[in-house]
Amino acid sequence: MNGIEATERRALGEYLWWQRGIIYQIYPRSFQDSNADGVGDLPGIVSRLDYLRWLGIDAIWISPIYPSPMKDFGYDVADYRDIHPMFGTLADFERLLQEVHGRGMKLILDFVPNHTSSVHPWFLESRSSRHNPRRDWYLWRDGSADGGPPNNWLSNFGGPAWTRDPASGQYYYHAFLADQPDLNWRNPAVVGAMLDNLRFWLDRGVDGFRVDVLWHLIKDDRFRDNPRNPAWTPDGNPFHALLPEYTADRPEVHDLITVMRRLFDEYAQRVLIGEIYLPIERLVTYYGTGPSGAHLPFNFQLIDAPWDARHIAQLIDEYEAALPAYGWPNWVLGNHDNHRIASRIGPAQARIAALLLLTLRGTPTLYYGDELGMRDGDIPPAQVQDPLERNVPGKGLGRDPERTPMQWDDGPHAGFSSVAPWLPVLDDFAHVNVHSAQQDPDSLLSLYHRLIRLRRGSPALEVGRFEPYPSSRDVLAYLRRGREGESSFLVCLNLSAQPQRVTLTDLPAPSSVVVGTRRTREGEEVSDVFDLAANEGAVIAVGTTA
Ligand code: GLC
Repeated sequence: MNGIEATERRALGEYLWWQRGIIYQIYPRSFQDSNADGVGDLPGIVSRLDYLRWLGIDAIWISPIYPSPMKDFGYDVADYRDIHPMFGTLADFERLLQEVHGRGMKLILDFVPNHTSSVHPWFLESRSSRHNPRRDWYLWRDGSADGGPPNNWLSNFGGPAWTRDPASGQYYYHAFLADQPDLNWRNPAVVGAMLDNLRFWLDRGVDGFRVDVLWHLIKDDRFRDNPRNPAWTPDGNPFHALLPEYTADRPEVHDLITVMRRLFDEYAQRVLIGEIYLPIERLVTYYGTGPSGAHLPFNFQLIDAPWDARHIAQLIDEYEAALPAYGWPNWVLGNHDNHRIASRIGPAQARIAALLLLTLRGTPTLYYGDELGMRDGDIPPAQVQDPLERNVPGKGLGRDPERTPMQWDDGPHAGFSSVAPWLPVLDDFAHVNVHSAQQDPDSLLSLYHRLIRLRRGSPALEVGRFEPYPSSRDVLAYLRRGREGESSFLVCLNLSAQPQRVTLTDLPAPSSVVVGTRRTREGEEVSDVFDLAANEGAVIAVGTTA
């Protein structure tokens, strides 16, 4: 650590990189193809690292890159300790890690512990006979009295979660596809083997893991039926016909997280992020007691929330109030499983969302392409790839739309590949792409760039206190307080398509706009009232000039 860094760290009170930093998610199939097969790969990512450095993000999380039959695009792992040839080799991985670290960034991998691929050697052994020593590594049960599945549990990807294996006549459990059998995490041998898999990458210098469906690892040991969901209607997702009371968020899962966390803590500064879709009061239990929990249980509240100022203000308050003292907050706007933010709320509000994500208290995670305002792709039925859309078609559940290739320039296939990509490029790529957005100071990308630069240089935005600020119904306003001698910031976001006024009280002078959705306002001095145009947002430095 050099002298400047040491001073900075002291000034910031020794916050860790994953607290101050910004995480960027790469869906590796769709980021950059380097070998003309229409699918992204590791050398492709290396070739784009300078872009990420320019953008100013601190850490990259890459969705699974391990050998896999790709039934669920890598979330069906056949070997936890190698790289899928489609993405490259272990040597390519080493190079990627080196290049990321060489640019002062961190690399986070995806760990998929709940299930393996059905072609993983463990499962092949497990299914080979009832007496195989690995039989108990998965969840095998006899059918019910009538010969049907052992209970009513449903697969997230449609149909029953049990598949009968003709060889032994027993059923195995799979929360997702039949090609993704669930591991039995009550078996200590499974725990040991999976921790060894984590060690393999931690030893190589990986900076952390995003842990897939962390809240699913343990199922009820009595295999009780899940209760019906009274709110469900037949036009909804069939999985939600039942409440997952006995298949997820079981109390014993926390013991496993403790064990995982202990392993992470054997290494310096590694981060454990959990994918957890639960309401706030349940989500925060995944912080454990601090040293026993996940560092960052992903907070997906902004993904499901209605885009309404009062609603969001309330969920921020609830989240802030529910966090344990040692719990570091985090915010996510999008990922590879949810429709893109620009499609959910429209392009004008996507600019507001950028301001929100980068000024809330807590680690932001940004999904590739959202910084360009990429929309959901319109995938023709013949080109559907996602197993969820194939199994449960026509309900808008499919995830291909948010996985289309990154738009780099206006050349063939948007600069993603020299051949037709695995999913079609969006038809707006001629004007929505990195190259042209970098030239345009009013683009969403330029706004992200300015915001990230501001955030990185402002302790109040990175780690300062959060305070709600009084405002009208459609405006979300809050302060991020710096310490003595540091700037504080007032954030005013108009979530409506009508002009709004914010009355400013007790703001120390001078106060001025530092970053705004309308660039022309940057530098404007502010006092008494702040008028926002439709869909306008601004970050105002108060007290001292940023
Ligand atoms: C997680 C992943 C998703 C995957 C599922 C099964 O939710 O994000 O893409 O299909 O787990 O592994």
